[in-house]
Amino acid sequence: MLSNKMEEQLNKQVNAEMYSAYLYLAMSAYFEDRNLSGFANWMYVQAQEEMTHAMKIYRYINDRGGRVNLEAIDAPPKEWDNEIQVAKQVYEHEQKVTKMIHDLVDLARNEKDHGTDNMLQWFVSEQVEEEANADELLQQLKFIEGKGQGLLMLDRELAKRQFVDETQEE
Ligand code: FEO
Repeated sequence: MLSNKMEEQLNKQVNAEMYSAYLYLAMSAYFEDRNLSGFANWMYVQAQEEMTHAMKIYRYINDRGGRVNLEAIDAPPKEWDNEIQVAKQVYEHEQKVTKMIHDLVDLARNEKDHGTDNMLQWFVSEQVEEEANADELLQQLKFIEGKGQGLLMLDRELAKRQFVDETQEE
């Protein structure tokens, strides 16, 4: 059985992961509008991944006999100045999510809730990957100064990213 506090915080994380999906979908739409279909694909896949993160916690709350409470999802931004600004926001957002995951681990350990701690370790590893991917994108964009031939080549590269539901590979 989950404590009330743990249940509440896990529900907040479901909402945060759904917001992440919404944020990346908004970024995908922004890139579609700029005819950068590779960047749009990368963000679309990222949004799909975030939905699987939300659903992993959703399933976990139910498995532990908790109650899922779905709250309103905040509206994401609509516009950005350029590609570099988007990538910077992705990186900063992932750092924020990492902090949220670490706070959840701290809570689970304080409560001696080993089941939740164990479930969250998947997210701890995932966040290392998420930050690395976001940082790589940002650094590549900075390297090409976010423009010209380099931008089109990177767009072609990002078009190759495919969605894999890693939450099912356990
Ligand atoms: Fe669900 Fe991007 O972390």
